[in-house]
Amino acid sequence: MGYSEGIIYLSDLIDMSSVVIEKTAFGTLPSNEAVWCYTLSHPQGGKVSILTFGAALQSWQVDEQTDIVLGYDNLAAYQQNPHYLGVIVGRYANRIAKGQFSLNDIHYQVPQNQGGNCLHGGEQGFSHRNWQAEIIEKDGLPSLALKLTSENGDQGFPGTLKAEVHYSMPAANQLRIEYRAMSDRDTLFNPTSHGYFNLAGHHSGNALAQQVRIAASNVLKIDETGIPLGPLSEVANSVFDLRKPVTLGEIYSSMPEELSGTRGYDHNWCLDAYAPEQAACYAGSLMAPALGTELQVYTDMPGLQLYTANFLDNGLKGKDGADYGAYHGVCLESQLYPDSPNQPAYPSACLAEGNTFYSRTEYRFITTKAAE
Ligand code: BGC
Repeated sequence: MGYSEGIIYLSDLIDMSSVVIEKTAFGTLPSNEAVWCYTLSHPQGGKVSILTFGAALQSWQVDEQTDIVLGYDNLAAYQQNPHYLGVIVGRYANRIAKGQFSLNDIHYQVPQNQGGNCLHGGEQGFSHRNWQAEIIEKDGLPSLALKLTSENGDQGFPGTLKAEVHYSMPAANQLRIEYRAMSDRDTLFNPTSHGYFNLAGHHSGNALAQQVRIAASNVLKIDETGIPLGPLSEVANSVFDLRKPVTLGEIYSSMPEELSGTRGYDHNWCLDAYAPEQAACYAGSLMAPALGTELQVYTDMPGLQLYTANFLDNGLKGKDGADYGAYHGVCLESQLYPDSPNQPAYPSACLAEGNTFYSRTEYRFITTKAAE
């Protein structure tokens, strides 16, 4: 269960029975189906709210004052949610070129919902469904289990897929997300969590004073529609070298040519620590040096998409009347590489009939300096 050889983390030893999960009503869909909000509170700190709609991370209160996740406070906004705030994305996160791929010599066409490509599994993917919730307990750790059945042909993808996402808090201000899925036919599966984080608080304006770090020596360069060109590119001596923290505002102050088409970072890094069948490893961080806080990402996935909310509409209304806009949040999305169904050299997104997909990503909020 630990993360790397022989290390047992304290979080695996603590008695977690005191994590509390509360359920409140969030809204009702036109079908009369109820949408619920589940709040997980860790006794040593941190309160996370998850909606059944989109299995969305709606808020993360790291202390009394600071909610580090952008989100909405009404269901209607989540039913639209064109920027995928907080939701679980599937069946295939990120892009599939022209929405086309072949599997077992059968050609499939899935929605071309962005720039001629399939983005985030189509407009009515996992992000726009109401999941079934159940509170479960494993090894003394209560989790919120969210379940969804995606029928054969849903958004054009083959196979009836039964997916589960489990949210839990193994330690104070740590959020664990586990994905499981099984299909009755060979299919593709590549889920992610699409949280927009701002360590100064979701309503604090842009996050340009914050830093990002990604433990990756290679990145995927993309064409003008966001599709990887193919080979991995070394990050050394480029704006893609995030192995040491960079401040977003410093990079964007005179937008480098490589980032101008995407108005900033919107790329997938190939994580150095990735190896097939390996447990989750450190992938990267968002840091707020002025606040002395950091959000670390651990994952067993091979890729990390960094997207700095470059295209958030200015004036988008968020929770508590907040006005969101470009660069107000930072997404660190663990996933397979984009367009992997058309790139045989990339780790495969194929989920074979009857096999169980399992993956784990953790977000850990930490304080790096004592409060003054
Ligand atoms: C993509 C962006 C997209 C955003 C919102 C990110 O994962 O990389 O290109 O604009 O999601 O859909």
